[in-house]
Amino acid sequence: MTLLTELRLPVIGAPMFLLSSPELVIASCRAGILGSFPALNARTSEELDEWLTRIKAEVGERPFGVNLIVHPSNSRVEADLKVLARHKVPLVITSLGAVSELVKTVHDWGGQVFHDVVQRRHAEKAAQAGVDGIIAVCAGAGGHAGTQSPFALAAEIRQIFDGTLVLAGAISSGVDMACARLLGADAVYMGTRLINTLESAASLDYQQRIIESRASDVVYTDQVSGIPGNFLASSLAEAGVDPKGWGGKSVDLASELQPPEGGAKAWKHLWSAGQGVGQIADVLSVADLVDQLEGEYRSALNRAVTLTPTPG
Ligand SMILES: Cc1cc2nc3c(=O)[nH]c(=O)nc-3n(C[C@H](O)[C@H](O)[C@H](O)COP(=O)(O)O)c2cc1C
Repeated sequence: MTLLTELRLPVIGAPMFLLSSPELVIASCRAGILGSFPALNARTSEELDEWLTRIKAEVGERPFGVNLIVHPSNSRVEADLKVLARHKVPLVITSLGAVSELVKTVHDWGGQVFHDVVQRRHAEKAAQAGVDGIIAVCAGAGGHAGTQSPFALAAEIRQIFDGTLVLAGAISSGVDMACARLLGADAVYMGTRLINTLESAASLDYQQRIIESRASDVVYTDQVSGIPGNFLASSLAEAGVDPKGWGGKSVDLASELQPPEGGAKAWKHLWSAGQGVGQIADVLSVADLVDQLEGEYRSALNRAVTLTPTPG
């Protein structure tokens, strides 16, 4: 818990492929939330080393995280883990595979491991692997999302896990954060809301499309990477991708990293976003966003107190 208790707000800036730049991580940590990025955003393990040197120099003692995709199609896991060890990265966020040897390695340097899951069975495996935190990625999340309601998934994970619980999926405001805390989460994971910040690496067109979109403009499909995720339907339509062709694609994360020449590239032109888009109407600096979230969070928690039933 110490990783999160020092924060101004219980928010982890979620790792986003291509979008979480070192600038976004640095601005997040400086604003008082925990910034993170996918290791694969750095093109090589050597570049990852440079990014971490820079981030540590800029954020000082503030905690930050790096996401490792533990999947056979990611050939960089071993090399990247060595770089994370050298920098004693405070938080390692694992996706797709929870591995106890990896947990031990991270604990040896004093770091923590949070694992993201979309169902209870994966949470049980992660708990057995000894992770410190579980991220419940619920329906409506950006990226590779789950399908379960946060009410269902948070409660089921709490039945089997008493470590840190982070809730994810369409969390865009301080009100959403307060609700997540009432559901038993220690913190929230925020992805889509951070796409529309000055420090994210998203294009202006992508950010504008998010401003114009509502939850009904988001489609859940496995046609981009073989794993079901949420994408802005209009970006798929523009690229001629039929989101309804369900189950026809094998999981190949490597092709996302080196997409074929020409044609629409997954994540770069096929834009992912969660159902929280309907609450996003601007592009702010992370510092201004965190100020806004704090105000909303405080007033939501105050309002929750006024809802307490009076006895008798
Ligand atoms: C554009 C985009 C890229 C993402 N890339 C990754 C990734 O590389 N690794 C990962 O673990 N999660 C990734 N995610 C998922 C986020 O980490 C997080 O689970 C999700 O954004 C939370 O839901 P929200 O977007 O509704 O806040 C991505 C999400 C988005 C929107």
